[in-house]
Order: sequence, then C-alpha cells, then structure tokens
Amino acid sequence: PYRIAVFASGSGSNFQALLDSARAGTLGAQVALLVSDKPESPAVERARAAGVPVFVFTPKEYESREAYETLVLEELNKAKIDLIVLAGYMRLLTSVLVEPYTGRMINIHPSLLPSFPGKDAAGQAVSHGVRVSGATVHFVDGGMDTGPIIAQRAVEVLPEDSATELQLRIQEQERLLYPEVVSWFAAGRVKLEGRRVLLF
Ligand code: GAR
Repeated sequence: PYRIAVFASGSGSNFQALLDSARAGTLGAQVALLVSDKPESPAVERARAAGVPVFVFTPKEYESREAYETLVLEELNKAKIDLIVLAGYMRLLTSVLVEPYTGRMINIHPSLLPSFPGKDAAGQAVSHGVRVSGATVHFVDGGMDTGPIIAQRAVEVLPEDSATELQLRIQEQERLLYPEVVSWFAAGRVKLEGRRVLLF
C-alpha cells in the first residue's frame, strides 16, 4: 500500500480526518507514521489511540533543525514513506527533509495562498477585511507556505467573524479537502514538474 507520514504539532484535527478516511477505505493509503515536535500534543494521543507508530522529538534538545531532521529522515526511510503530509506542523523545514522529498511532501494552510502565509492566517484575513478566504494544499519547498499549489477551497468571511470562528470554518473544509488530495497522490494522479503541478 501507499504509505504516508503525517507531521503534526497541535490538535491534530486534520490528522484525525486522514485516519478516519484511511479506516473508511477512501484514502487509498495507510497512515504509517505520525511525526511530532510536541510529545504532549493531542495529535500524539490520537495516533496512540489509533495504533499508529509515533516518532516524537523535542527540538530544544538538539543543536540545530538539521540535527533532528536527520533523525526524522532515518525514521521515514525505515518506514518506507511515500508521501509526507504536514498537518499543522508549525516549523520550517530545512533541505535535509525538503530535498529528498521534493514532489513528495505537501502542506495545508488556512488561507488562499499566496495571501496570508505564516502564523495566524485566519487572524490576518479578518484584520485585512477580505470577504473570502479558505484553505490551500501545496507542495513544500524551502520557504514559508510558498510551494506550488495543488488544490484550494474557498470559505466566505462573515461580517462578524472572529479569527477563531473563521479558523473553525476553514478547518471544516480542510478536513474534507486534505484526505481527498492525499487520495489523488495514492492513485498516482499528482505530479510535480519543476514548479508545475500536473493533475491527472
Ligand atoms: C490547520 O488549520 C492548518 O491549516 C494550520 O494549522 C491548523 C492545524 O490544525 N497550519 C498552518 O497554519 C501552517 N502554516 P489541526 O492540528 O487541528 O489539524
């Protein structure tokens, strides 16, 4: 089977959606590993509850990002991972992971990129006063939310929305969109050629 590793730092609602889709048979992939930089996160608890192997690390115990990413890379190789799926993994990656997984690493971000990259995308959207925001799934490159775009879902911003309210409605769409995009990968329907995304 097609094997994915999910990277998550937080609540793990996207991770849970991927687990549920795998269990339902609609993902077309096995969730073979959870990687987390937050040993106490709900995402790690969800993995344990589902019987998914977990690799956790504490970044401040390492000299550099490269040092812990080298260990993560070993785990990915051992687990024969086909695709890395970032799901609320709140750290930039170095070339240690980005280079070997070019075209095989995706991220989801709670805005219509290239608007509002980085932290608190929903808060940025509310502050700016946009009427439409959404979610974006994209390939990961060395930058912050800058890689080639694979799929997007629009979400209306309502007049009285707080950042939290908008974020929650965006996350509802993320939980639908991300498993669908992963299923495209598992079926061999997505390719990256340079910076062009090909969908079959
Ligand atoms: C998601 O909304 C995801 O798009 C966002 O973090 C949230 C994680 O929620 N990611 C980023 O902002 C990355 N720049 P979750 O832990 O419940 O899946």
